[in-house]
Parts: sequence; C-alpha cells; structure tokens
Amino acid sequence: MIEDLKKDIKELTPLLIEWRRDFHRHPEIGYEEHRTSSVIRKFLEDLDISVKVYAKTGLRAVLKGKPGGGTVALRADIDALPLKEEGDKEYKSENPEATHACGHDGHMAILMGTARLLSQRKEQFKGKVIFLFQPSEEIIPGGAKKMIEEGVLEGVDAIFGLHLWQPLPTGTVGIVKGAMMAQPDAFSVTVKGKGGHGSMPHTAVDPILVASHLVVNTQSIVSRNVDPLKPVVVSFGTVKGGTIYNIIPGEVSLTGTVRTFDPSLQSLVERRLKEITEETCKAFGATAEFQYEKGYPPLVNHEAMVDLALDVVKKTLGEERIRDIDPVMGGEDFAYFLEKVPGAFLFFGMGDGMEFPHHHPAFDLDEKALPQAALLMTGLALEFLQRNE
Ligand code: NI
Repeated sequence: MIEDLKKDIKELTPLLIEWRRDFHRHPEIGYEEHRTSSVIRKFLEDLDISVKVYAKTGLRAVLKGKPGGGTVALRADIDALPLKEEGDKEYKSENPEATHACGHDGHMAILMGTARLLSQRKEQFKGKVIFLFQPSEEIIPGGAKKMIEEGVLEGVDAIFGLHLWQPLPTGTVGIVKGAMMAQPDAFSVTVKGKGGHGSMPHTAVDPILVASHLVVNTQSIVSRNVDPLKPVVVSFGTVKGGTIYNIIPGEVSLTGTVRTFDPSLQSLVERRLKEITEETCKAFGATAEFQYEKGYPPLVNHEAMVDLALDVVKKTLGEERIRDIDPVMGGEDFAYFLEKVPGAFLFFGMGDGMEFPHHHPAFDLDEKALPQAALLMTGLALEFLQRNE
C-alpha cells in the first residue's frame, strides 16, 4: 500500500505545486475566502465527494469507503493574512492587501492531494474520511469554533491536522505529547492622565511616564509571580500616544499578548496584569481602562493519537524524520477540535532554504514538503481507519 502511494504521490507533485501557487496568487483573509472555497469545492465535487458549507466559507466533505468502520477527520485552514507581500516570486500575491504568509496555501494543496489519493482508494478501506477546510484561523475567535458549533464533528472519532513549519528542515515532523501550543490572549490598556505643556509637567498628569512604569512593572509577573519552571509570556506589542515633542498628551494606549499553557496560570496572569495596571496608574494620579480578551485554548495532543501518528511517520517517511521538539508559545484554533475529539496536530518541516519566518511579508515555503505531507496525511487516515475497522 505504501509503495503504491509513493508512486501516486510522485505523479501528484506537479499538481500540488500548481494548486498551492494558485492559492498563493489569490489569497483571501478570514471569512472572505470565497474564491478559495469555491475552487476547493469544485475540486472535491469533481472527485465525487459530497461537500457542505460550514462557518460561511468553510467546507466539510465526506468520503465514504466501504460500509462500517470509523470516521476520521483531516483539517486544513484556508485563510491568508492581511499583509502586503514582499519579494519577487513568480507566483506573488495578486491581492495587495493579503498574502499567504503562514503556509495555509500549502495546507489546502496537501489536503486536496490527500482527498484525491484517498478517493482513488475508497474500495480499500472501511469507514469515512471527513475533510475539513476551515476558514479564519488567524483571527480570534477563529473558524474552528464556529464550525464545531455548526456540527462538523458529528460522528467524528478522531481528527488530525498539520502546520507546515519553517523552523524545521523539509520533510521532518515535530510533535509533542500533551500541550504543544499556548493559549494566545490579547489585552489593551488606556492610561488616562491630564495633558499639558511639555515645559510645565507639574501641571499635568503625564501618561507617558505612567505607561513607561506600567510596562516595567508588569515584567515582574513572569519573573516574580510565576513558577520559573512554567512557561508564560507577557509582551507589549504597541504603545501609542502624543502628537508633538512639546506637548504632554492626555492619554497613552498600549496593547499586548499573554501566552500560557496552564489555565490556573492564565487567570493568575490576567489578575496580576489588571492589578498592576490599575495600581500603577493610581500611584501617579492617572486612571486605567483595562480590557482582556481570551484567545484560543492551549492545543493539547492526545497521547494515543500521537503514538499512532509517530507510527505512520515511521511507515511513510522513516523514523529518522521525527524531531524531538519543545512546545511553542504560538496559538492555533485546532485546539478547539482537540477539546472535543481525540486527535493530534503536527508540525511538518518545510524550512530548507527558507530564510523568512511565518507571518513575514516575504515568507515562502519549500514545496518539496507538499508531497511528503500529503503522503503522511493519507497514511494517518488509512492507519486510523484500519485500526478501527
Ligand atoms: Ni498558520
């Protein structure tokens, strides 16, 4: 079966690249993936796979094998980022307001290739494969949650997904048992002081000074409130205030992110951030408006599904492709699927020769990873169904 698959994958490779480049040229951001969705839909319907729309621009396609057996879902995210592409690749984005700078164009091509390979083998397995093409992974609250609320996981026994991963060499696989990706929360603060002339600071309440103390004071959360063996991040992303060098502004606004794996640490950090913000402002006679928004839950892989995935990597790509990796502080809404059904999420290396990280405007991926990833995804579905006949 594997040798047979490898031969078909070879023939599929030019198509995988063509599909990926077509998506790359036509990127669409969260819930605007209309063209993207219709291209995928037509492709699946041509394979005689029935497709239904979920979460506005998402798709759920059901491939039926022989009667009986289990049901396994495979997921790809389909949205691009609101970013102008840089660089001069021949398949550069034709949309000046968006680019596939995270690799989701590759995810779609991989899952389409997987659908084709599995549809050619539907007489050879028992059960069903459900392909989930999920919109809006990049924008909280994310498309996964909405798809689940609309019922995409009904009847699903297990789910697998992957992310093409620039930090790993092409064709290698990184996976973590248990928590692999963090909960990415967002917060914003408006420090309200009293504006005045830069030459008369004593008549003002200077929000720039207060905001500076606030940024410094919150650094003690990770260093003094959190167990040093537990990973937590508190980072500020924007500080905005003022118009000209000689005016003390009336207010300064800041935004930032908190990353955690442990729900009890998440609530501790949220509470300390609020306290330090309010008390720092109070100490200087300013007031604070504090807002906190929880992101996706931490992504937690199921142990038995990780073991299954590792077996499949060994069978399809070879044991030497497995990389021992640490969890990352990035977030991913695949986490919602894993809260509902057993499954695993993997990082698939595509970093050979790629110098720009995910979300960089000149991001690109080593397309040699595409056929290997499609082989792995196909293997995951077949292995799960074989074990659950
Ligand atoms: Ni991504």
